[in-house]
Amino acid sequence: MTGELTYRPVGPSDAPWVADLITACHPDDPWDPAALRHRWQTSRPQWWHDRVVLFTGGRAVGVAEAEHPPWDHDPDRNGSLWWFVLPTAAETADRFLEEMERRLREAGTGRLLASCREDDHHLRAPMEAAGYRMERTERVWELDLVGGRERLVAMAEASRRRMRDQGIRLLTMGEETDPQLWPKLTRLQNETEADIPSSHPFHPRSEQEVRAFFQDPRVRPDRVWLARAGNELAAISFLTFPERGPSWTGYTACGRAFRGRGIARAVKMETLAQAIALGVDRVRTANDAANAPILHINETLGYRPVPGWLEYLRLL
Ligand SMILES: CC(C)(COP(=O)(O)OP(=O)(O)OC[C@H]1O[C@@H](n2cnc3c(N)ncnc32)[C@H](O)[C@@H]1OP(=O)(O)O)[C@@H](O)C(=O)NCCC(=O)NCCS
Repeated sequence: MTGELTYRPVGPSDAPWVADLITACHPDDPWDPAALRHRWQTSRPQWWHDRVVLFTGGRAVGVAEAEHPPWDHDPDRNGSLWWFVLPTAAETADRFLEEMERRLREAGTGRLLASCREDDHHLRAPMEAAGYRMERTERVWELDLVGGRERLVAMAEASRRRMRDQGIRLLTMGEETDPQLWPKLTRLQNETEADIPSSHPFHPRSEQEVRAFFQDPRVRPDRVWLARAGNELAAISFLTFPERGPSWTGYTACGRAFRGRGIARAVKMETLAQAIALGVDRVRTANDAANAPILHINETLGYRPVPGWLEYLRLL
């Protein structure tokens, strides 16, 4: 397939067909239309966003999402790109990449961090040919909740005992009555997100953004697990429950003052035990390859690797 390429901006109302297109790029990881719509409706305010679908011969064959923070918050001018192209349209990838680079450069980007899946060789090849350097890797893993059922339920029970012994209370967000929940969750989110190994500078989230994050249609308050130490919020873990595609861990985090006591493991075990009780057969999670404690937890739970994500750097 060759010919003229055209680019069309897309937004929340396009989410259903764009989710289908992303799904066609990676059929083993279907995208949920409602989740994509929510992602685009709640993009970080004040940031620059550019979402583009690539067409050739009248057919949509690729999707890209580019963004950058306000430049006065980021003197190095980091922009990011996340992109997909159907393998059957691989020959369009180099021109699509050039077009997205042009847009990011025009928007003032100095350092471009571009992500693709590790088995997307048709996207890696043009990036490597253009001199991109691999900067980070994100491991993606899957846990079989059917084969691991008994072992995981026993691990959850052991974690519960350990939390009882330490006076840590495990409960869901739906059960939580603390009127200060959102300010506490915002503090926990910002303190812990800053500790995730990343090539991007950390930009704290407002309480409004944190609330929006939990309004994702795949997230349910009765399936978000919290750990409390007295009046303090110590940790959180939750799984997403999309209408299509696998359940993923949305986030697992433990406040700095509470680490190393098995609390993150305990909240995560509650999410897995609940998923088992709901009949979910497998769950996925994604972790930066340099995030040693969470990689260790996931290894001991029996997660097995599936294709991960690569982040490449190019100075524009
Ligand atoms: C990752 C995180 C959730 C762990 O919280 P925690 O409450 O300290 O975790 P736990 O105490 O339950 O378990 C940590 C485990 O990792 C192990 N560990 C800690 N540091 C480690 C390291 N550098 N290398 C290997 N293992 C390590 C601990 O020994 C423990 O293992 P064990 O359960 O077999 O004894 C916490 O560090 C955090 O919030 N980080 C920032 C947010 C984040 O990265 N979230 C996960 C990815 S999205």
